[in-house]
Amino acid sequence: MTLTPVDPLPSREVRVRAPGKVNLSLRVGPRDHTGYHPLVTVFQAVSVYEEVVAVPADGMVITASGLQAEAVPTDGSNLAAKAARLLAERVGVTDGVHLHLVKGVPVAGGMAGGSADAAAALVACDALWGTGLSRDELLDLAAQLGSDVPFVLTGHTAVGSGRGHLLTPAMSRGEFHWAFAVRDRGLSTPEVFAAFDELNRGVPHAADAAADVPLMQALRAGDPSALGAALHNDLEPAALELAPDLAEPLAVAQDAGALGVVVSGSGPTVAALARSRQHALVIAAAFTAAGVADRVLTAMGPVPGARVVGSE
Ligand code: C5P
Repeated sequence: MTLTPVDPLPSREVRVRAPGKVNLSLRVGPRDHTGYHPLVTVFQAVSVYEEVVAVPADGMVITASGLQAEAVPTDGSNLAAKAARLLAERVGVTDGVHLHLVKGVPVAGGMAGGSADAAAALVACDALWGTGLSRDELLDLAAQLGSDVPFVLTGHTAVGSGRGHLLTPAMSRGEFHWAFAVRDRGLSTPEVFAAFDELNRGVPHAADAAADVPLMQALRAGDPSALGAALHNDLEPAALELAPDLAEPLAVAQDAGALGVVVSGSGPTVAALARSRQHALVIAAAFTAAGVADRVLTAMGPVPGARVVGSE
């Protein structure tokens, strides 16, 4: 008797986790002819996560639960839906998929929550459909979905250039601990970049990577105090212009002894670097006590990028 080899059963469910990010430094040049700003940024992936559960379905279905889930669009405009469609087109798959998003990263908070959904959806659908695409091919699709998507796919620590999508891994030693002040009302990234243009009209400015040498040294040395002193965000004045009350969590974190405090990406989440996990909890408690955040989070970084955490 001969045994006929059978293909392994396709997965019926794939769960993927993707992290949020903090921009340790964000340096922005003038808007170019594509409408984007050339930038140099140092990303750190942090332990606040989006989870995407992918199961086969008729057509495209998006549902969401968890942090601020009511603010997430569940139609075709959702970035995870766009990711699944892009991948399906790329590999010629016609199957439908139900993507359930378990939100842990603030919505429109400057921490790449939507980008993490997209990166997780790419990895989940890739596994569900067995596409066999290489990591570089997935990174290429990620860059088409948004400037931050390649980084949350990759995770850890990296320097981003171009729109933020061209990545070079960066050395980083040890763990860094954060407290985040989150606002329920997010800021729109295009609006923050437009406010940046207004503030910098007529002012020569360039995205200068050389300015981040002390920051890169702090990462290599695993020195939180030096990292705190080197945190920098060119978009912070624009975010403060649109949301002046962000000055409050910035001040509260300083009073609570934060090693450094910065608006994360295009905001409005405020990221405070702590001396330890315990100190991060103290800063988070100070945000709550002062009433300067709708909610608080603590996290550590760097952490890995989007990856499968379960399948059946
Ligand atoms: O790439 P992503 O879709 O995340 O960008 C959202 C918006 O942010 C863009 O439409 C653009 O207005 C702005 N942006 C920019 N320069 C960048 C990245 C984003 O002006 N480097």
